[in-house]
Amino acid sequence: MVRAVPVRPWPAPPRQDGRRFVVTGANSGVGLETTRALVRAGAHVMMACRDEGRGATARDDVLASEGRAAAERVEVGRLDVADLASVRDFADGVGPVDVVVGNAGVLGVPFGLSPDGVELHLATNHLGHVALALRLLPRLTDRVVVVSSVSHRAGDLRLDDLDWSRRGYSAYGAYAASKLANLLFLAELQRRLTAAGSTLRATGAHPGSTATAITASRGGLLSWVGSWGHGLVGMSPTQGAAPVVVAATADLPGGTYLGPHGWREMRGHPVGARRSASALDPELAARAWERWEEMTGLGLDLGLSPP
Ligand SMILES: NC(=O)c1ccc[n+]([C@@H]2O[C@H](COP(=O)([O-])OP(=O)(O)OC[C@H]3O[C@@H](n4cnc5c(N)ncnc54)[C@H](OP(=O)(O)O)[C@@H]3O)[C@@H](O)[C@H]2O)c1
Repeated sequence: MVRAVPVRPWPAPPRQDGRRFVVTGANSGVGLETTRALVRAGAHVMMACRDEGRGATARDDVLASEGRAAAERVEVGRLDVADLASVRDFADGVGPVDVVVGNAGVLGVPFGLSPDGVELHLATNHLGHVALALRLLPRLTDRVVVVSSVSHRAGDLRLDDLDWSRRGYSAYGAYAASKLANLLFLAELQRRLTAAGSTLRATGAHPGSTATAITASRGGLLSWVGSWGHGLVGMSPTQGAAPVVVAATADLPGGTYLGPHGWREMRGHPVGARRSASALDPELAARAWERWEEMTGLGLDLGLSPP
């Protein structure tokens, strides 16, 4: 069992009454606490979960703390974000959305391919969220939020070897690359929205080191080291969700990326976070965008009628 270090109380987000959010991976950790904070602020939240049973249990958990009166504002929808067909079905079934939070993630899983033939970290942590954001964009009123990680700094995104067929597979390397991909997508999406004259925005956040199931449940050395590290410096999921909640609700300029203020951005209050040189490389972001377009068959569609 990991121990979370207490940090002083966080400021509440501004009221979100009448606003509709989609949060992926909402049944656990950062996604669950992001959901709870948004519901507390009055939002309507669609909890997008790959397992509806776990989603229903998490919804009960939210209603237990926020009150049964919030029941009509908290929904569970089935979404396996690693499966592009599931993303399409989910997006087709969702009504108007103000904000989509791409939070679901896996870390340190053995090599595997998604139903679309994409390496599992990239498919889950990144590509499915690209597809979800691009599918929802014509119906979105406010923003896309990406959830990245300090680990993006170790990311080496080889666009010519996304399936790791030309080098030995590294589970952590695949995770770091997917988190770099998150930030490249954030930058290029914002650039394209601005160029198109859209008022939509893209923001991002990372939860520093937060004690969640993401390292604890995978087994092996990475799991042990991760859990030990989280126990030593990690924040509670409520605290770890704070940068995500701010990125989703505060009036921030498009392209903003937030994380905890403390040592190595591991814990603390949400502030502007640092990005690696690769994450700020516009040429890499543009080339990566082309790959995501090829792999998803989707592009920037703002739903505008032709003049
Ligand atoms: N915790 C940290 O210190 C930390 C640090 C940096 C970044 N992050 C990022 O924070 C995000 C949330 O992670 P967490 O720490 O809250 O971990 P977590 O407690 O393990 O939550 C991950 C969530 O993603 C869901 N998920 C995984 N694969 C999915 C799929 N194919 N389709 C739909 N949902 C899927 C999980 O669902 P199941 O319960 O069904 O598996 C779970 O709800 C991730 O993007 C992670 O990379 C976390």
